Amino acid sequence: MRSRVRSAVVAAAAVALLATAAVPASASRPAPGESGAGDAYFPFAGNGGYDAVHYDLDLRYQPPAAAPAPLTGRLDAVATVTIVPTRHLTSFNLDLRGMDVESVVVRNRPAEFTREGDELIVTPKTILPRGKAVDVVVTYGGATGRPTDIEGALYGWVTTRDGAMVASEPDGSMTWYPVSDHPTDKATYDVAVTVPEGLVAVGNGDLVGSDTAGGWTTWEWSAREPMASYLVTASVGNYELRQTATPGGLPLIDAIDRDLAPAASAGLAQTAEMIALFETHFGPYPFSSYGAIVDDDSVGYALETQTRPIYSTRANEGTVAHELAHQWMGNSVSPARWQDIWLNEGWATYASWLWGEHDGGAPAADRFAAVMARPESNAFWQTVVADPGPLGLFASAVYDRGAATLYALRQEIGADAFGALSREWPARYRDSVATTDDFQALAEELSGQDLEDFFDVWVWTAGKPAVP
Ligand code: ARG
Ligand code: ZN
Repeated sequence: MRSRVRSAVVAAAAVALLATAAVPASASRPAPGESGAGDAYFPFAGNGGYDAVHYDLDLRYQPPAAAPAPLTGRLDAVATVTIVPTRHLTSFNLDLRGMDVESVVVRNRPAEFTREGDELIVTPKTILPRGKAVDVVVTYGGATGRPTDIEGALYGWVTTRDGAMVASEPDGSMTWYPVSDHPTDKATYDVAVTVPEGLVAVGNGDLVGSDTAGGWTTWEWSAREPMASYLVTASVGNYELRQTATPGGLPLIDAIDRDLAPAASAGLAQTAEMIALFETHFGPYPFSSYGAIVDDDSVGYALETQTRPIYSTRANEGTVAHELAHQWMGNSVSPARWQDIWLNEGWATYASWLWGEHDGGAPAADRFAAVMARPESNAFWQTVVADPGPLGLFASAVYDRGAATLYALRQEIGADAFGALSREWPARYRDSVATTDDFQALAEELSGQDLEDFFDVWVWTAGKPAVP
């Protein structure tokens, strides 16, 4: 309970901070959009005053010259962002870190713009009426490097020896395109990436086509299901594209680095069987295609980029199961605030336990017991998983205590109610976002039980819960 109060205070403080940027908006008076979506952990992530509904990204990328040159490339791009104002807008922000902006055009007219921190502030010639979609065209470019998040981990557009690995959780999309960079503002995407002939650029969703002229190849990708910005990729490498399908007819597009030994992608072999297993637990696979990117460079982790997770140097079977489970748990239903990330990582970790058991490995009960075997004095138990702090997003407790919480919840409400919850959670919040309280409410609705004490002990309080 205590941490819930603390987080509310932090959120209120963040909102107060943001409010200084904007005139309090009555629904009818024209006003600027806020510089953030109101996330207590990342106050400037996302923006207020509009919904971004579609991104059309046209990128040209020159990777680094042959090693040992420094790992810097060159990106030149035009981003067309379709926004729908939620009030009469006098100005609005996009998130963008680095890059030089050459021009911003709104409704076919040049707009004024300034840069402030990671904010691109756009003032159109005329007020943008509430509810009317407009195209914002940003022409920009710059040198690419190896950006890092607040923890110091590589993220965003990460320049590699032969291309780029693009993995942007939580707020790294702003390193490569102007964006409303928060999961609450999902959008569809058309992404075209032009790279030197011979290289392959891989995006989310469906491959529309590729076209080579004058030594450059343009790869066009289309993601028709709404997507949170941290799940967008446009990775570039020396990939072999493999197009297959599951027995159920779901197109699979894998991009496997030609410089890797076959063993590096062996963990992908059971992808179709994993999809079938998770469909029995979580309902129909939520998107129109799937596949993997396995790069011989590394950002130090794998990421569940929508429809097409990216792996650093190898795709291990357990990780493949984890990233697949995220397509339901994290991608279709996403965290409404970054503090809710245990709903991503707990579910994906729990799902990899299910896969392991299904595939003849350790039973989920043993995986749960292994988590609970950690002594009370272990610092692991000090993370409050429903409010781990911006530096604790990827703490091991978010994953393992998160998974143990779901296992314990199954004991608490029974297999039938838990099975219903596992299907209803991604169904009810499909293509949307939700909070820990939303999850508790659904668990209570489907079980008919009061789960306040359970959630208090397992996710809102530090310290080791009693083994059920
Ligand atoms: N969501 C990813 C996964 O567990 C992990 C991302 C880790 N990111 C980081 N910056 N450390 O599948
Ligand atoms: Zn994960």
